[in-house]
Amino acid sequence: MTINTCIFDAYGTLFDVSAAARAAAEEGAVPALAENWRKVAADWRERQLQYTWIRAITGEHADFWKVTTDALDYALDASDLGGDDALRDRLCALYMDLAAYEEVPDTLVALKDAGLATGILSNGTPEMLQSAARSAGITRLLDHVLSVESVGIYKPSFKVYDLVNRAFDCEKDNVLFVSSNGWDVAAAAGYGFRTAWVNRAGLPMDRLPWRPDDVIEDLNGVPALAGAA
Ligand code: LAC
Repeated sequence: MTINTCIFDAYGTLFDVSAAARAAAEEGAVPALAENWRKVAADWRERQLQYTWIRAITGEHADFWKVTTDALDYALDASDLGGDDALRDRLCALYMDLAAYEEVPDTLVALKDAGLATGILSNGTPEMLQSAARSAGITRLLDHVLSVESVGIYKPSFKVYDLVNRAFDCEKDNVLFVSSNGWDVAAAAGYGFRTAWVNRAGLPMDRLPWRPDDVIEDLNGVPALAGAA
């Protein structure tokens, strides 16, 4: 089937989730962060994802800003940085305006020039996603920004992937779904999308019931997979 719609995960795929802790460390206000910003960023991301899965399984949904700040509080405690309200506020502000990976604008322009529909499908709240897209300057390159908030459950519930078909004029096999999260892209493959895993870190393949159709190093490989290059 022809790909006519290209859908991107947001955090870790378009937006660099390490950028907030890295930028706060570079600002230098908290010397201890300079030494362990990588651990803070990794703990923050790991707990954030774990909390989404636990909330999805138990039905205790809270939005992604709540989950993100809960995970940040855990990550700061784990590095003995808990209780520093100024640092917490700064990290929260930076997370709302995360940097996009450098190849993101050109990738989206190539897809739009080829006439494809484009969108984000993310755990993020609409406010978080609009803010990150705006600060990355990519709002005009996205036809839809879809948030799990409209179904009240996190990925990889198939109810989330169903949002694409509702927003776009497409069937599952017209969609190329792109994510840097191995579990997300695996589940999306199980759902029926054509899938590309952006494996920036050179990680091993996740052992799940489904595998992505393609593995790429960064987003520069997306237009060719979508038939747009
Ligand atoms: C998202 C997370 C999974 O943007 O990265 O949905």
